[in-house]
Amino acid sequence: MRPAQKTPPILCISSGKGGVGKTTFCVNLATALAEKGARTLLIDGDLGLGNVDVVLGLQVNHTLRETVEQGCDPANIMVEVQKNLFVLPASSGVPEMAGLNQKGQCSLTTVLEPLIKDFDLVLVDTAAGIGDSVLWFNQWASANIIILTPDPTSLTDGYALMKVLASRHLKKGFQLVINNVKSKQEAQDTFTNMAAVLGRFLQETPSYLGPLPKDTKVIQAIRSQKPFVHASPDCPAARAIRSMASHIFTQAGLQAGPDHQPYR
Ligand SMILES: Nc1ncnc2c1ncn2[C@@H]1O[C@H](COP(=O)(O)OP(=O)(O)OP(=O)(O)O)[C@@H](O)[C@H]1O
Ligand SMILES: [Mg+2]
Repeated sequence: MRPAQKTPPILCISSGKGGVGKTTFCVNLATALAEKGARTLLIDGDLGLGNVDVVLGLQVNHTLRETVEQGCDPANIMVEVQKNLFVLPASSGVPEMAGLNQKGQCSLTTVLEPLIKDFDLVLVDTAAGIGDSVLWFNQWASANIIILTPDPTSLTDGYALMKVLASRHLKKGFQLVINNVKSKQEAQDTFTNMAAVLGRFLQETPSYLGPLPKDTKVIQAIRSQKPFVHASPDCPAARAIRSMASHIFTQAGLQAGPDHQPYR
């Protein structure tokens, strides 16, 4: 363990609609950040239906359920995936975990706050929607990344989530990722339309983290339980993730590690 530091940036990744690519984005972004030299903790915040471990092909014996219900030290739950990348896995098929009650929220705050000080960056992959655990993780975070796709249902549900976060939890400065796009133009148009709606109805000015193209290599990598930034480092989705990772890395004021290989 390194000496205690200040609290690192906590980036919470959420969406209104399910299945829009949050876990895929988080796992690959965390991998790319770790490879740039950022000591990264990825928390599976989909507490009742976690699958970060599945996407990464990890063997998991303990989950955050033990921390929330029994106050177990998360350091004993954490899995080291590769250099600089650690995961706190969640349970799956435990519906009562999805609605994180106040006691569970307190347990998590108490145990996570000291743990995260050993990291440069923390990412949280939440469940979809506006459930208690989603709202709590977003409130706890210092930055809120919302994943949208150009589908109207993703946009309306994403707007509803941001409205709740802005009006009830006073969250601002959402960072938008537009996933599953056919072109940069489609992503830009989707961002521009959502930014106009947020400006008009919530007086919110979001920032654009980037587009993530629809890419068959993403689907192949998920089936082989490997991040696509490793399995297909040249694919368009991997390039997009590395570009967003560079932006986040710089935003966090981090310096590239000594063994970081700048990508071609
Ligand atoms: N850029 C992409 N290109 C192609 N397929 C994608 C892309 N992003 C996500 N997918 C597909 O969408 C599926 C769902 O992605 P993922 O599990 O990451 O979504 P999620 O938002 O985390 O879902 P949930 O709300 O259930 O947690 C993946 O299995 C993958 O096949
Ligand atoms: Mg998910």
